Amino acid sequence: MQALANAIQDHMGPLPTVVHPESDPDPSGATMRALAWFGNADVRMIDAPVPAITEPDDVIVKVTASTICGSDLHLYHGEIMTMKKGDILGHEFMGVVDKIGPNVTNLTPGQRVVASFQIACGECEFCQKKLSSMCDRTNDSSLQKAMYGTADAGFFGYSHFTGGYAGGQAEYVRVPKGNVNLLPIPDNVPDEHALYLSDILPTSYHAVVDTGVEKGDTVAIWGLGPIGQCAAYWAKSKGASRVIGIDCVPFRLAFAEEKLGIETINFKEHKDVPKRIREIVGDKGVDVAIDAGTFHEPKSLKHKVQKFMMLETDVPETINEMLVSVRKMGRCGMIAAYAGFANGVNVGALMEKGVRLIGNGQAPVHKYWKEILEEYIMSGAFDPSFIVTHRVPLEDMPRLYAAFDKRAGGVEKVIVDTKWTEQYGVRGKGCPPLSRVADWANTFPAGPESVN
Ligand SMILES: NC(=O)c1ccc[n+]([C@@H]2O[C@H](COP(=O)([O-])OP(=O)(O)OC[C@H]3O[C@@H](n4cnc5c(N)ncnc54)[C@H](O)[C@@H]3O)[C@@H](O)[C@H]2O)c1
Ligand SMILES: [Zn+2]
Ligand SMILES: [Zn+2]
Repeated sequence: MQALANAIQDHMGPLPTVVHPESDPDPSGATMRALAWFGNADVRMIDAPVPAITEPDDVIVKVTASTICGSDLHLYHGEIMTMKKGDILGHEFMGVVDKIGPNVTNLTPGQRVVASFQIACGECEFCQKKLSSMCDRTNDSSLQKAMYGTADAGFFGYSHFTGGYAGGQAEYVRVPKGNVNLLPIPDNVPDEHALYLSDILPTSYHAVVDTGVEKGDTVAIWGLGPIGQCAAYWAKSKGASRVIGIDCVPFRLAFAEEKLGIETINFKEHKDVPKRIREIVGDKGVDVAIDAGTFHEPKSLKHKVQKFMMLETDVPETINEMLVSVRKMGRCGMIAAYAGFANGVNVGALMEKGVRLIGNGQAPVHKYWKEILEEYIMSGAFDPSFIVTHRVPLEDMPRLYAAFDKRAGGVEKVIVDTKWTEQYGVRGKGCPPLSRVADWANTFPAGPESVN
């Protein structure tokens, strides 16, 4: 699939953009450690050139904290088109400013910053409204435009379908348009509070705000990974009267019950999820449903077969469960990533019940990150480190992919140290001690790491 998609993209040629993914190498010839994609379930640590300031708005960041996101698992499984061998992954990272281009006016070397997972130009119609993930001028994927009618912004470390920019599971990152894509972090905010402003905090917040969760609403959330757990927190903070989390991973269900005080459904025990939801909230159904699961894990044989035979790329099961579980005129938000086509969507329920099925899109980080930093984190109202279960070194990244994919060893969200962490990082008391993945997860990645 990757080869075909890359060939089609090459044939169509790139869309015009104001920034470009190719970085010049640092003139010193220095190299860095980074995590790169090589194939299905095959990611490896490589030595790559340290990027240099290549365009005048660039900032080079020394990464002090990185992590893995559920979206990386779609890449890991080759479910996103136009991956190329050697692509450096990672879109959630923070660090200190190392070098700035001549046009960068609001940052100085040494400053702590967090990067947004999307690369916004800061000037187009969407960027002016802070809808940074929808930026019109940073993603050259004509394949995405052909499939969706328009292309999203470019993203760090997320395939050539989103621009082909090198990512943040690395010691250095070149951040295009550094003036707009880096948020300064005050020294008294520790890394484990700031890092997730890159992605999971604005994303989960957006899921709740965009789907219109209001005081008194009953809310069901599919998927209790980091996005679902944080969405449950935000739903409660917006006044939801009842939040129900759905998953099949026992420790994630227990985590949500203990840390967030929500009710849960194990979908392996309750095969008919909408029925179970009505048993809990009554026959009306829930006001709001949020999909924070994953499009590549079919539950039923029917969809396993269709996906295997490439008759569909995406699974409609959660969409259908949401459509049936919500009340008449209820709202369903899709913050979980989807890529292509799903068969058998219950359009009857969607239409007849007047359900608002909302594609929440890739979340516009710039719209929310300052608000979350200032009003929730700096005020002390919210401690995002509740989600962090493990801290590991960058060298463990291939093993971490395997463990996070298998949801092994009680992993929920991870903070990853680099060689810069000791010198420039600010780890607070909410940060777990450094550990090795092999100590807590008995999983083996594909590729050369598996023989270590
Ligand atoms: N829109 C955005 O901007 C954005 C940003 C980040 C992540 N995401 C997406 O959000 C989703 C969740 O991310 P995450 O980091 O929490 O991922 P994760 O993989 O850690 O968690 C997903 C959870 O969903 C559960 N799940 C799978 N199938 C399910 C089903 N049928 N019903 C209920 N639960 C099911 C899994 O067991 C898992 O615990 C992913 O699809 C990711 O790509 C979107
Ligand atoms: Zn992500
Ligand atoms: Zn823009």
